[in-house]
Parts: sequence; C-alpha cells; structure tokens
Amino acid sequence: MPCDLSATDGIQPADQRWPWWPLLPLYPYGRRRTVFSELIPGQVWSLEQLQGVYYVAVPVRLTVVKVPGGLMLVNPLPPTRELRQEIAALEQQHGPVRSIVLPTASGLEHKLPLPPLARAFPKADLWVSPGQWSFPIPLPSSWLGIPSHRTRVLLDDGVPHGDVCEWISLGPLDLGLGRFQEVSCFHRSSRALLVTDALVGISAEPPALFDLDPTPLLFHSRERGDEPLTDSSEARRRGWARLVLFASYLRPEPLEVPAGPELLRHAFRPGLRSLRAHFGLYPFRWKPGWQAAADGLMGSEAPRLQVAPVLERLVLPRALTSLITWLKDVSRFSDLRWLVPAHYSAPLNFGPEEVETLRKELTKRTWAPDDHNWAFLSSIDQRLLKLGVVPNNPCNQRLS
Ligand SMILES: [Fe+2]
Repeated sequence: MPCDLSATDGIQPADQRWPWWPLLPLYPYGRRRTVFSELIPGQVWSLEQLQGVYYVAVPVRLTVVKVPGGLMLVNPLPPTRELRQEIAALEQQHGPVRSIVLPTASGLEHKLPLPPLARAFPKADLWVSPGQWSFPIPLPSSWLGIPSHRTRVLLDDGVPHGDVCEWISLGPLDLGLGRFQEVSCFHRSSRALLVTDALVGISAEPPALFDLDPTPLLFHSRERGDEPLTDSSEARRRGWARLVLFASYLRPEPLEVPAGPELLRHAFRPGLRSLRAHFGLYPFRWKPGWQAAADGLMGSEAPRLQVAPVLERLVLPRALTSLITWLKDVSRFSDLRWLVPAHYSAPLNFGPEEVETLRKELTKRTWAPDDHNWAFLSSIDQRLLKLGVVPNNPCNQRLS
C-alpha cells in the first residue's frame, strides 16, 4: 500500500548532511538519505532513514500524522534539509507542525534527534514519554538539549490531540540502568496505531531506502571478502535476509567468524581495496540453514508481524505480562486497522483479529528462549542478570 512520493530529484549531498552523527556514530554517518511515502492517504506519512553498524542498517521512521490545524511528528529523525523539505511540502497542504512526540523512554536512535528536530520547528509543542534517562551520567532533559519551556510529559501532563488520538502505555519497566516505556498512539481518523519499538513487521523484500544505495546489501550478500560487490535483485534479497538476521539476533546461530589468518587471506584483493568494500575484510561465514533462519523472521507475501527478538530477549525477557496487558489495551480500539512502527515495513494489517492472533501466539510459545538463534542474546541477558545490572523482576521495581 505505501505510495512512494519521494521527490529526490535535485537533492544534493548537502541536503542529506547530518552534522551531529558523532553523538551516535552509526552508518551512514554524516549523510542521511530520506525516503518519503504516503502510508494512509491524506492522514499518515512516513519519512525513513537508515541507521546501523558495519553495514547492518535498518530503516528508522518518523511518522507524520494529520491532526486538527496541522501535523504531528512522532518518533524524531535527524532533520536534514531533505527531511525538512518533505515536511514543508506537507505543511503547505495540511498546516504547520503543531507537535513533536518522543514516545519512548529508552530508544536512543529516536531520542537523540529530538533536540535538533525541536529547533527546526520552534513553534511546535514537544511531548516526551515519562522516565527519560541518560547514561552513563543522569542528566536533566534541558541539559540534553530538550527545551523545557515547551516540553510536556505524555500521560503525566495530559496528551497531545486528545480529540483525535488515544494514548496507551507499554510499561514502565525497570531496566536497571533506566526505564523502558513506550506510549502508543491510536489515531482515530486513520485507524492506525503508531508505535516505536513494541512491534515490527519484516518483509523479504529490501526496503526502498536501499534503492538509493544498495552497498550494505551487496556487502553482506557475499560469502567471502574477496568476492566483488555485484548488484542483482537476488544479491539484494540475500543481503537483506542476512541484515535482518544480524539486526534480530546480533549473532545468529548459522554465523561463524573466520579466524584472523583466513580473514586476511581473502582481504585486500584488487578491486576491493576501497573503504566501500571495507578493503575486502568480511569477518563472517554463513553456514547452511541461514536462509531458513531468515525466512522465520520475514514474510514472503506480507511483512511478518512480531516482537523484535532483541526487544524480547534483552528488554522484555521477564515482562511478557506487560506486553499482554498492552495488547489487551490495544484490543479496546475496535475499529483499529493499521500498525505503523518506527522500524521496517509500514503500514501493517493490524485489526482486532491480528491483535488476538498475536496475543494467543505469544502466550502459547516459549517466551525469550535461550537456544539456537537466541543463544547469544540470552548469554548477554544472563550475564547482566548475574552482575545485578538488570533486575529479576522488572515489573515490580522502584521507578524514579
Ligand atoms: Fe527503535
């Protein structure tokens, strides 16, 4: 359904410049391309940029929503000139940006762009999830560049656009270092539920963002570092499947890291001595079974709806009840039709039937497993638990 209306013609590299990238040094660093699409005609639009590590990049979305008298921006993104131009075109038709919402307490990739986005829209009200925190030093929001005079806390200080939106909370949960909380918005006119990280839907088809530069896909589509980066639709799909495996499990089961001498034997080959090809260094070897593992995460017909494994195993491993409670809250919206998350595909089919199917699936299967593809995530969680960094019962702790 998404209709790509991206007006990339005439866009210069300077329009995609993001000077604050060293704050969170992730690929593609100082140049952020933006893909614009209309998700629900006349009501909801999507602006996506890539973000990741070592060419493992997934789309991050800012959602623009029509509200009375203008627009609401949900889940901030770096306000490059290109992104501001796309929003300005919407403002021409629908009125000014009235509010900017950061609905998550913990998602750094959504939090860091809030101050510059707020500066780009000086007349907008700002709303943030309760329990904002910083690490390693706890700093007040104003020190993080969030202007306090026009910032309010969701639910504690009211809600934005209560005449067209209903707001519900997932959490709060105690993560030890800080809080996990996400406030979701049901936008009645579009019948869409807007979330941040709570749920995602992943498609086997690479996101349109990679049409602008498929390098990350081609890099990971290879078997060894001495293979050239050759473009084909099959290579793009293979690279995307592997990116999804990395982003989901960090170190999936069918992945081996070759020893140093073998790695170097295939590196620095002619034609690959460039930064783009990471000088032929490719420290991965995929074992048989990787495609089946990826197929378990991606839908071939429609995007596969799921709780992202990283969220399940590292953030919510002992908090399934909180997720189920949230899904029960969601099921109150009887005319719900769509889900718009801040990552991967959107909009996803998400009516009462899909909500109920998901709830049943989550209560039937093993939650936050320890084996196979989950083993690496599980080992991180177990280590943090043993060190006392994360609590055993996140639902029943003090939350400051
Ligand atoms: Fe996120």
